[in-house]
Amino acid sequence: MTKKRGVLKAVNGFIEITVNVNGADTALRVKAGEYLLDALRRHGFKGAKKGCDTGDCGSCTILLDGKPALSCLLFAAQAHGRKVTTIEGLGNPRRPHPIQQAFVEAGAVQCGYCIPGMILSAKALLDENPDPGEAEVRRALDGNLCRCTGYVKQVEAVLLAAKKLKQA
Ligand code: FES
Ligand code: FES
Repeated sequence: MTKKRGVLKAVNGFIEITVNVNGADTALRVKAGEYLLDALRRHGFKGAKKGCDTGDCGSCTILLDGKPALSCLLFAAQAHGRKVTTIEGLGNPRRPHPIQQAFVEAGAVQCGYCIPGMILSAKALLDENPDPGEAEVRRALDGNLCRCTGYVKQVEAVLLAAKKLKQA
């Protein structure tokens, strides 16, 4: 991140912030008091999903300076000068990240709504601990609710992803 953090001023209700989104310094014009989730989605980063909007479901999980964070509870201005990773920063259908590939191979995706948040929680875990046990995976996914699956496949997917990342 090249831009220094400083005092932000609202002009006509809008604030200009610079956030490193998925590796690129990005100027975002956000409303004063706008939540990061809404600002990201308004700027095209639709991988962050709005579920509960109250900090309970984990669908809006992004990485803030590499750590999972609930973007529905953060003001956009709090991301000024920081690094945000959304699911778009990991991979895409043509070039999926090994964690994304593992979720597909393990059959861990049904409707998919919870999956971006879950994969980002998994990424933070595997960045910190490349060889987690099942209990550690369950703990890392604890804040990510899924209404379709029984979580078993998703835990298997993260363990498979750990193997893939070790081989890569
Ligand atoms: S939308 Fe943020 S925790 Fe549910
Ligand atoms: S796959 Fe549908 S909510 Fe998780």
